[in-house]
Amino acid sequence: MSNLLKPLQAGCLPLSSRLVLPPMATSKAEPDGKVSSAILDYYQEKSAGGYFSLIIIEHSYVQQAGKASENQLSVADDSVIDGLKELAAVIHRNGSKAVMQINHAGSATTQKVTGAIPVGPSAVKNPRKGDVPHELTQQELREIIAAFSAAAGRVKQAGFDGVEIHSAHGYFLNQFFSPLTNRRTDEYGGDVLGRIRIHQEVIEAVRATVGEEFPILLRLGAADYIDGGTTIADSQIAAREFEKAGIAILDISGGFSGYTIPGNNEQGYFASLSAAVKEVVSIPVILTGGITEAQAAEQLLAQGKADLIGVGRAVLHDSLWAKKAVDSIK
Ligand SMILES: Cc1cc2nc3c(=O)[nH]c(=O)nc-3n(C[C@H](O)[C@H](O)[C@H](O)COP(=O)(O)O)c2cc1C
Repeated sequence: MSNLLKPLQAGCLPLSSRLVLPPMATSKAEPDGKVSSAILDYYQEKSAGGYFSLIIIEHSYVQQAGKASENQLSVADDSVIDGLKELAAVIHRNGSKAVMQINHAGSATTQKVTGAIPVGPSAVKNPRKGDVPHELTQQELREIIAAFSAAAGRVKQAGFDGVEIHSAHGYFLNQFFSPLTNRRTDEYGGDVLGRIRIHQEVIEAVRATVGEEFPILLRLGAADYIDGGTTIADSQIAAREFEKAGIAILDISGGFSGYTIPGNNEQGYFASLSAAVKEVVSIPVILTGGITEAQAAEQLLAQGKADLIGVGRAVLHDSLWAKKAVDSIK
């Protein structure tokens, strides 16, 4: 059992042991993707007091061709490691565990940002953003898998407690998972197992780099909420496979609907997804989305909808949110 998961072994836990700061892009990195003083200040402010058991740093690109937007953090080469060390240290000094999310944008970017024609599983326009991408060859796929693996190695070298693979919100791995964008006829397409073959190869390659003990999390866009898109039934099959492949924690969010469900503002609006995933796995599951009150978080945990609760925008707007939440239920 890794250090990251030890708190979950204690049985009935206070909310403070179950709170996660989910990945939230700040667009505060240097133009070349390095950690800036603005990023260090931001995470210092958000992690002060150690009220989160886990802080997941915003999505960072594994290679230039997978950069999603300007001023995004990079994990694409070794020159970023020193800055990442400082970032991990800020979080650790404040008493939380630190995980870094790694990502490839696939077709959800533009040539203006990356300097190259965006790529994807198939030459299908991304329903969220971007143009029609170049359909990746298997050789090109192997290069991206290697980029994920090398990026995870940098995260570990920088002193983080784990790495999170991003497969949500319409980015590269989500594009493979979803039949909306994956029309491949080779072994990386077809049924769910075909559409997550790349995930499994990424997990395997990351594992080979970071070793057996280092926690690998996966953020899963568990339903697209679009006709012809992924469903929770697909995600239950995928979740079982990810657990078998050694994923330590599943972090549940949306797919091509992004991190929201249009027209649903309930606190914990993805609870039906996280609960359905929990039915089929025994690893911890994070639920994020719409939670603004400590009592709602407690209730979702008590109802068994998830093992950990992520709170994003409420903390973005009020850095003292977690302190107030924990104090309010003492
Ligand atoms: C400004 C902003 C940036 C975000 N960046 C990321 C990101 O880098 N990676 C990711 O997986 N989710 C990202 N998200 C989604 C959040 O992690 C979270 O799932 C979402 O905000 C819903 O939770 P909330 O209602 O508690 O804010 C972002 C959300 C916002 C508002």
